[in-house]
Amino acid sequence: PLVWAVVPAAGQGTRFGGEVPKQYLHSAGKPLIEHALSALLAHPRVAGAMVALAANDARWPGWTSLHGKPVLCCVGGGERADSVLAALEALPADVPADALVLVHDAARPNLATADLDRLIDAATAHPDGAILGAPVRDTLKRAAVEGTIVTTEPRDGLWRAFTPQAFRRDALGNALRAARAAGVLVTDEAMAMERGGARPRLVEGREDNLKVTTPADLALADYLLSHRT
Ligand code: CTP
Ligand code: MG
Repeated sequence: PLVWAVVPAAGQGTRFGGEVPKQYLHSAGKPLIEHALSALLAHPRVAGAMVALAANDARWPGWTSLHGKPVLCCVGGGERADSVLAALEALPADVPADALVLVHDAARPNLATADLDRLIDAATAHPDGAILGAPVRDTLKRAAVEGTIVTTEPRDGLWRAFTPQAFRRDALGNALRAARAAGVLVTDEAMAMERGGARPRLVEGREDNLKVTTPADLALADYLLSHRT
């Protein structure tokens, strides 16, 4: 199928703090959003990208193409899912309903080509789509409000969800609209699909595909991006 990228970049970076939203902070000489877009558009299967921006965003560099492919932008929404839905609805009319859409965080700059390959293959083969992720490695504790340990949770079968997350354009749009209509806050695209009964495939990816959430993450991203193998 045709593959398009959707990049939500309308967040304010509240947990990171500071003046500049984190997607525009530089790492290894380029803004995080440029690393994210380049990783997607450099892939031969990806035809173009739709970026969701905050309504008042004055920092968007105004790219219209990267790696010779179209980069389009639209206005995002108040929650991540609103931004993704806005981007889906803004895709060109000639992107078919069964096109694969790869949703990838603007603040996730270290996506490896091999992971993207495996994700696209899995989502092409699997009707309910696929996401990158990795099994949980740490021991998990349930905490009481005062910060003491209540219990240790079994981690068997638990995964961390990364991006990209790959679904058919119409299926994802329907799932996000249904979640919104029900007033359910979905924190990733797979969660919206799961609500509708879909069982997306988990594709184990590299754990260095990190999302920059805090200043410590940016330091780690800097190290990873300047020591890429
Ligand atoms: N995002 C978006 N629209 C929103 C919220 C988030 O497009 N209303 C995007 C962010 O720009 C980011 C990705 O979704 O690329 C992942 O979200 P997150 O890491 O939570 O970023 P922020 O919401 O900006 O950060 P915070 O939650 O700390 O405010
Ligand atoms: Mg957020």
